[in-house]
Amino acid sequence: MGMSSTVRKVVFPAAGLGTRFLPATKAQPKEMLPLVDKPTIQYGVEEAVQSGVPNIILVTGRGKNAIEDHFDVSKELESFLESRGKRDLAEEVRKISDQINVSYVRQGEPLGLGHAVLVAETLIGNEPFAVILADDVIDATPPALAQMIGVFEKAGGPVLAVERVPMDQVSNYGVIAGVPAPEVGTGVYRVTDLVEKPAREDAPSDLAIIGRYILTPDIFPALHETAKDKSGEIQLTNGLRQLLQSRPIYAYEVDGVRHDTGNKLGFLKATVYFAMKRPELAAPFLAYLREVVKNRS
Ligand code: G1P
Repeated sequence: MGMSSTVRKVVFPAAGLGTRFLPATKAQPKEMLPLVDKPTIQYGVEEAVQSGVPNIILVTGRGKNAIEDHFDVSKELESFLESRGKRDLAEEVRKISDQINVSYVRQGEPLGLGHAVLVAETLIGNEPFAVILADDVIDATPPALAQMIGVFEKAGGPVLAVERVPMDQVSNYGVIAGVPAPEVGTGVYRVTDLVEKPAREDAPSDLAIIGRYILTPDIFPALHETAKDKSGEIQLTNGLRQLLQSRPIYAYEVDGVRHDTGNKLGFLKATVYFAMKRPELAAPFLAYLREVVKNRS
């Protein structure tokens, strides 16, 4: 059976415990923490929809029911809003659930990103697919995933989104070594090696993997063969390293603004960034920020 060549499905790993945001995440999934008024994960889901990939596979775990409710229709809420004349809001809450087709699969144990992808294996089947890590929110036109699909269609192999980061931050990321592949496109590299969270002195470059991947189904056997790391997790980076022995893999510098909302400072920056993009908030919010700065200096 031939492999279909279009990306139709996207996996959102969302089983993590969110300990960096305790106590906020004690009874609430971190993916539901809002940037202005929209849950972080919805930015990623909207990116998928706008990239033409509406089939969402959410890999969840215990305590994540709020995510399922969020992407479900809520007749009760809609009728309430409509009865109060808030038709716009009713439409706003309805829109996202109308646009997507969501499947859920549980990752019983937090055994790493590679394991989260393996949990989705039967729902993916024999076709290419995307992975979005919702912590990385990327503001881009065209959307980051759409850009990557363009690269995938030309390259015909897996594509990892990368970004140059300061060398003192490489140990937070998967890091690639690559050679430019201008025949595929601007900002594209053919990957020659990749290492998960290297020490600064062992990092093969400053090109860090950010949370977007287009993968081919041969990643599954590679992940099945990938050993657990010292913390007992199966890393996607290590699975890709295994796969690199048998096929070319590409990296692509996304043209856009990325926020790492998985840490407090990054989350606060993203909040300010997206607030400033709201016409109704930008001016009064900026005036307030100026006042805060003035009072501190
Ligand atoms: C994961 C990946 C890492 C990647 C990062 C991007 O790490 O393992 O390779 O660079 O996402 O956000 P995590 O942030 O889950 O520790």
